[in-house]
Amino acid sequence: MSLIIGIANDHAGVDYKNRLVLWLQDLGHTVVNFGTDTTDSMDYADVAHPLAEAVLEGKVNLGIALCGTGNGMAITLNKHKGIRAGLAWSKEIGELVKQHNNANVLVLPARFVSYEVAQEIVKAWLTVDFEGGRHQRRIDKIDCR
Ligand code: RB5
Repeated sequence: MSLIIGIANDHAGVDYKNRLVLWLQDLGHTVVNFGTDTTDSMDYADVAHPLAEAVLEGKVNLGIALCGTGNGMAITLNKHKGIRAGLAWSKEIGELVKQHNNANVLVLPARFVSYEVAQEIVKAWLTVDFEGGRHQRRIDKIDCR
């Protein structure tokens, strides 16, 4: 299925972002790039918030975010009610973050995985389905305000 995927990154994620965009477009997806597009040092929150809003407003189907560790992006994105940003560093976690957590944003730690692993994680997350059931019950308990 062809998707509209939003992608946001800081300076630590720009190289992987550029490669992922070309690969995702080759797969037939439309990619909306929230930047940044240079390796100049910048603040991940400046692109994480617009990505979260685009997901929540339905302007993109899903999001991908990259920073050095992934944590700055994940912490910022998860401030938005309705965003489930999941950090994944292996193919198996890429699968589980969709199957169990129904992550609507996948977060990648660009400085701690190879590009090949990052690609495998994205492929896994895009391919598998949310399992629902007890995992939906758990998701329903996440929001606290
Ligand atoms: C940038 O140096 C780094 O702090 C950032 O990419 C990220 O790891 C923050 O969580």
